[in-house]
Amino acid sequence: EDYQLGGFDSYLLKEINEQPDAVRRALLGRLDERFATAHLGGLDLDPTELRSFRRVKFLGCGSAYYAAQVGANLVEEFARIPADAEAASEFRYRNPVIETDTLYVAVSQSGETSDTLSAIRELKRKGGRVIGIVNVTGSAIARECGRGMLLHAGPEVSVASTKAVTNMGVSFAMLALALGRVRDLSVANGKRIVDALAKLPSLLMEILKLDAEIAEIAGRYADAEHMFYIGRVRAWPVAREGAQKLKEISYIHAEAYQAAELKHGPLALIDATMPSVVIVPGDDLVTKNIGTVEQIKARGGPVIVVTNTDLPENLADAVIRVPACEPELDPILLGVPLQMFAYHVARKLGRDLDKPRNLAKSVTVE
Ligand code: AGP
Repeated sequence: EDYQLGGFDSYLLKEINEQPDAVRRALLGRLDERFATAHLGGLDLDPTELRSFRRVKFLGCGSAYYAAQVGANLVEEFARIPADAEAASEFRYRNPVIETDTLYVAVSQSGETSDTLSAIRELKRKGGRVIGIVNVTGSAIARECGRGMLLHAGPEVSVASTKAVTNMGVSFAMLALALGRVRDLSVANGKRIVDALAKLPSLLMEILKLDAEIAEIAGRYADAEHMFYIGRVRAWPVAREGAQKLKEISYIHAEAYQAAELKHGPLALIDATMPSVVIVPGDDLVTKNIGTVEQIKARGGPVIVVTNTDLPENLADAVIRVPACEPELDPILLGVPLQMFAYHVARKLGRDLDKPRNLAKSVTVE
């Protein structure tokens, strides 16, 4: 086991650190600089078919569902067609309207999640067109979908998913790019995204260097009983996934909220004992997000900001700053320091980092 862990204290930490390589593998042979698009042969969709979809719906469970929300945002941004994400576990129990001009995208690390598999079967029975985005070749979901994309994250052992989630974001960006480039996404914009995707592995390496800084901040907040994770638009699924990571491995109650929703109720919970992790991408909503931090501070709440831009001095109690990329890809990079934060909190609390209580790596039962 020591050998397999390669000096890391857990698979969780090992897998967090494998992310630059995992992303490199996901990108390998798929980016096309000349035509400013992504080649995704496994989709088995020609450009006419790719153009024929009027909507995209992502389905997944847990972290795959939160990641899928990033995918839906990317499709709307790059391809300008309506897209959303739904928990596959809900989808299977309602009587969903299946549209034949919708591209359904089933997302799963293990490829064995029962709720996702059942959603796919329901879709197929009703004539829905579905592709799978999975990490495990030959898994039940890969076989049921028959076409799609492999995440190429490599084996993921820790129950808390990290590198697979990051590779989901990267895969969605390539899917959205391919969908966009058969529609109105310009060559220049396509090129901008291709270049930005190619830079992700080296930016991830920069983020991993923040380990000691993040450990120090995590140490300051590890005794909290509850935490808020706040994000807006692109950062909202990042907040959801950040809260999920903290809950899973530290057992601290963490709740994700959309920034603008705070004033509609949860602001009442803010006091000195309720730290908030606020995700502040350097995009066109930065001023709004600074306002959110100020609102929380004004009510005595401690704030940890995770950002990729310059912010006013003394805005927050702690700032984790990662390198900037193109704004559409911010959710991919901003998620990683939150994994590292959750890891350090859990480690400080002496939790089982790879096998959190009550959880299984792959949920193959209803
Ligand atoms: C991730 O940290 C969780 N352990 C969990 O939410 C997981 O993402 C979910 O069960 C879906 O698993 P899958 O990606 O293998 O389908």
